[in-house]
Formats: sequence, structure tokens, C-alpha cells
Amino acid sequence: MIEATWIDFTLFFVEICWQVEFLNACCTCDSDILILSLDKFVIHGGKKLNGTVTIGGAKNATLALMPAALLASGTFHLTNTPNLRDVATMSNLLKSMGTKVHLKDHVLALDTTNIKKQEAPYSHVKKMRASIYVLGPLVARYGRAKVSLPGGCAWGPRPVNLHIDGMRKLGAEIEVKRGYIHAKANRLTGAHIHFDISSVGATGNVLMAAVMARGTTVIENAAIEPEITGLAKFLQSMGGKISGIGTNRLEIEGVDELHAIEVDTIPDRIEAGTFLVAAAMTGGKIRIDNVEPDHLSAVTAKLQDAGCSIFVDQKSITLEGPDSIKPVDVTATIYPGFPTDMQAPWIALMSIANGSSVVTDSIYPDRFKHVPELVRLGANIELNKNAAIVRGVKQFTGATVMSTDLRASASLILAGLVAEGTTEVLRVYHLDRGYEAIEKKLQALGADIERMASEEF
Ligand code: EPZ
Repeated sequence: MIEATWIDFTLFFVEICWQVEFLNACCTCDSDILILSLDKFVIHGGKKLNGTVTIGGAKNATLALMPAALLASGTFHLTNTPNLRDVATMSNLLKSMGTKVHLKDHVLALDTTNIKKQEAPYSHVKKMRASIYVLGPLVARYGRAKVSLPGGCAWGPRPVNLHIDGMRKLGAEIEVKRGYIHAKANRLTGAHIHFDISSVGATGNVLMAAVMARGTTVIENAAIEPEITGLAKFLQSMGGKISGIGTNRLEIEGVDELHAIEVDTIPDRIEAGTFLVAAAMTGGKIRIDNVEPDHLSAVTAKLQDAGCSIFVDQKSITLEGPDSIKPVDVTATIYPGFPTDMQAPWIALMSIANGSSVVTDSIYPDRFKHVPELVRLGANIELNKNAAIVRGVKQFTGATVMSTDLRASASLILAGLVAEGTTEVLRVYHLDRGYEAIEKKLQALGADIERMASEEF
């Protein structure tokens, strides 16, 4: 008999409400994924991964392109769109504004001819910080927006001051009250904006706002992550006038109108990196297809330092894992450096290296929620401010562990693949945010992993 307290029941009720909302989103997307948010993965470790896997479209590119569609009236088609929980959340948010959304066979159709609301309520934003991306397009095209502040996430505060400051510099009147950003502008005007720190989201938001502002905008210290470069190219194809794409200095000549287009979404460099680490850890040999090798060169360079054999082709990468993993220090930083989204998977790899290494995160100093769970699987890791000192152990030992956020979950799956015995990873809804059908892709490579309903409640 499971002793359940009223808190358990409340949490369970909240989960189910969320689940119903999520399924609604999926149904609208005609998606064929039915992800029960209480699922867990059961992994029997010790299998080498071998074979070929196709990488999906980039979550973080899609989450920027979708709100950008609000800048024009018409029907957009985004091919190679991944079927993810975060895409369903963004779809739900855009639908609540009047967008028609349809996702079938990885083609996302967005019809923005009938936008009625310019609001991003807390019910959406609390599930996904990227919802704030609607701020720039709504003010640029409709002259107003009411967007909930995103709050924090699993690893601490996620401020949006750079987004707000950037919009103010473009002439938006902004008031932040009762947890919401209230923004309005008759028409935004071009400005010279210099970001103190490189921010993917703030660059994206300001870029989407500036593309329809009156006059010229210069963005200095702009983020150059592939997802932002992809967004700039998307806006240019819509009729935007942007120069300096791919550099830290963007110059935008505002236009009065943009038009709907079709675009192929770039591959997900973090999904690609995660599978390469899985092959490195299991000592197998895999080829990943549909990738842009340049987008993850910092990761492949570090994997070579760790002893992996890597062959890079135009759209694929082949990796053969070593018999013994060499310890390699890494500092997660802005692109083209080692990505912070690969920090957790990297710590999983270093946990079974033949020696000690230091993994530092210069972007998110608190992004280490995966460490205590990896320690439960037998890892020897000590945290010191924004760095993890990882002393390699011979092997992980299977246990039940809890997902806390998207990339932390990935590191637990990777550890389970090589752990002695059985590992159960609970609350895989975190993983479903950013990895499409990861268990099926891993099964196809030889992993012994099953998705099962969790008996947590
Ligand atoms: C994007 O988040 C990604 N999300 C994150 O991926 C990724 O980890 C992050 O960029 C860094 O590469 C999406 O693209 C949807 P930032 P974003 O603004 O835009 C500080 C994943 O796992 N900052 O570049 O929110 C911030 O605290 C997710 O796929 C401010 O101080 O990141 C951080 O220290 C997780 N004020 C640094 O800038 C602001 O207004 C970089 O954050 C904004 C950011």
C-alpha cells in the first residue's frame, strides 16, 4: 500500500492537468506522440552502441522561428521540425493568440493570418522560458504585448533584463508589474544596442523587434549561436534587411512588411553531441546523420582529446569510442566554445574517465542538479562554485534516479547505458522537452532501454 499524502495527490492532480493540456497541444499538432508525463526509463547497462542514427531538427532553432512567424501574415512551413514537448508548448502559446498550428511528419505549418491576442500568460511561460521570444515580434507587428516573466528554472534564476532593456532602447514603453511585462509602441525605432553579455534569447528578441523598426538598428556583442544565425537568415528570407549575419555585430534596416516563407530547420547540435557521448561512453561505433559538423566542432575536438576516433563528413559524423576514456577539462561558454547544454553529458563521460578532470560552466554557475544523481550512480564528483571536479571511477552502478531538467536527464540516461545492473530514470517528461523518441533511437543502436509508466503515485 503506497502511503500518499495530500501533497502527493495535489502534485498528481497538477501533473494530470498538465498532461491533459499537453495532449491537447499534441492532438492539435496531429502528433503521434503520447507522452505520459509520469513515465520512467528502465535501462539495463553494458551494451555497446553501434549503427546509424538520424538527428532531428534543432529545438532551440524551432523555438525562435515559431514566434518569428508572428511578424508576418500568412502560412509558414518549417520542415525538419522536431516533435518535442517544448514545440507543443510553443504551439499551444501561439494557438492561444490565434495562430493555426499543424505538425505532421516533422513539417510545422503556422497560419498567422488571424492573430487576435498579444498575450503570453503565466500558464504557458512557466513551462518554458523561451515563451518570452514572442515579446519582440508582438510589439514590432502589433504595437503591444503582455508577457509573463519566466521565473526561474531547475538551476536558478533566469533573468530577462537584457530583453527588456533592448526593447526599451528600441522605443518600447515597458512596465513590469504583477509578474508581467507590459510593452507598447506606436512604432519601434532603430537604436544602437550593445549587450553587456552575450545572450541567445535577448539577441533573438531584439533582432525580431528591430527587423520592423523605423530606421537602422545595430546590435553589438550579439550571440552567434547557430540557432540565432538561423533566425537571422529566416528573417532575411521573410524580407528583412540584415547584415553581419554570423558575426557579433548585426545591422538591421527596418522594413514595413514581411512575408511568410518555408524553411528547413537546422539539425540539433545538442542531440548530436549527446549521441556522440553515448557512443564514447559505451565504447561502440556510431554514425550520426543529418548534422552540421561545424556546429559541434568544440564537442568533437574534446571527444578526440578524450581518445575517440572521429571521422567527419559533410552531413555526418562517425565516432568510435576508446577502450579507456582520457580525462579532459572543459569550460562551457558561448559559441563557438563548448556549449553549456553539453556540460551535463560531458560530466557523465568524465565520471568514467581514467583520471580526474574539471568541468566548469561559465554561463550557468548553478547548472549542476545532475551531479547528486550521478553520485547516486557511483560517480565521484565534488562541486566547487561553478565547477565540478570529476574523479573517474571504474563503473557506474545502477540505481533509481530523478530527472530535474532536460540536459541533466540526458546525463542520467548516458550513465545508465554503461552502469552495472539496472537504472531507473524517473520523470522523463523533462527529457521529452528536447529529445524526440530518444529511447527508440537508442534501442536501434543496441541499448537495452524501455519507457514505462512510473508507479511514483
Ligand atoms: C538559450 O537560453 C537556450 N535556450 C539554452 O538551452 C542555452 O543553455 C542558452 O541559450 C545558452 O546557450 C533556447 O535557445 C530556447 P542566454 P537563453 O540568454 O536564451 C544571462 C536547453 O537545454 N542573461 O544566452 O535563456 C543568463 O542568466 C536550453 O536547450 C541575463 O543575465 O540563454 C545566462 O547566464 C537551456 N539576462 C547568460 O545570460 C538576460 O536578460 C546566457 O543566457 C538574459 C540572459
